[in-house]
Amino acid sequence: MEKKYYLFEDSTQLAAQLALDFKNAVDEKAAAGESITVALSGGHTPKAFFEILAEPPYREGISWENVVFFWGDERCVPPDNDESNYKMTNNALLSHINIPEGNVHRVLGEDPPTNEALRYSKVLEENVPAGNNGFPSFDWIFLGMGDDGHTASLFPGASTLSETERICVVAEHPKTGQKRVSITFPVINNAKRVSFLVAGEAKQPVFKEILEKGDKTLPYPASMVEPAGGILEWYLDKAAAPEL
Ligand code: 6PG
Repeated sequence: MEKKYYLFEDSTQLAAQLALDFKNAVDEKAAAGESITVALSGGHTPKAFFEILAEPPYREGISWENVVFFWGDERCVPPDNDESNYKMTNNALLSHINIPEGNVHRVLGEDPPTNEALRYSKVLEENVPAGNNGFPSFDWIFLGMGDDGHTASLFPGASTLSETERICVVAEHPKTGQKRVSITFPVINNAKRVSFLVAGEAKQPVFKEILEKGDKTLPYPASMVEPAGGILEWYLDKAAAPEL
C-alpha cells in the first residue's frame, strides 16, 4: 500500500487541489471509455470541494456521465433533513451539475436502517465491480475523520470495526445515538484509492498519533484504513497537521 500526505495552507486550498485531482481521475477513466466509482464522505469538510466542482470550469468540464456516486455512510434521516449527507451534497454539487440520475446512488436514510443496510449492500454489489475477495472495489473512496478518530460511521470501540462479512452495517453515533448506515472495512480496504479529507485544529491530536504510531493498535478507526492494493492519501490543512 502506498501512503501519501498532501499539506495545504488551509481548507480552501485543499478543496481546490482535490477538485483538480478529481477532474484528472475522471478524465483518465473517460479516456478509457470507463466510469469511475466514487464513495463520498459526509460531514462538513467535503462541502468546499463539492462547491468548487459545481462551478466552472469543472461544472461543464467534467464528463459527469463517467462518474458514479455512492456514499460511504449516511445518517438515518430523510433527504431533506439538515443532518442528511445527501442533502449537503445535493445542495453543494448535485443540483448544479448535469449528471445522469442513474449515476447517483443515494442511501435511503428515511428507511428502516437494517433494511437499508441490506438494500444498499445489494446496490454496491450490483454497481461496483468486485475485487478478488468478492467485495466491491471502489475506484475512489473519500473519508473524513472525527475528532474521536472515527471514519465513515465506524466509531471507536464499536463491534462494526471487526465486521468481515457484510458490505454495509447499521451503526450508532456514540454521543447522539443517531443511527447510521456505513460501509465496512472489507469494502474500504478493498478500494483502489482512499483519500482522507482532514481539516481543522480539532483533528490534530488524533492525526498526530496516527502519523507517529500509524498502526492498527490505535483505537482509532481511521488508523485501520489500509487499502491493501491501493493508495492511501491524506489531504490535510496546516491546522490539522502542523507537524507535517
Ligand atoms: C458523517 C461522516 C463522518 C465525517 C467525520 C468528519 O456522516 O458524519 O461521514 O465520518 O466524515 O465525522 O466530519 P467533519 O468533516 O464534519 O469534521
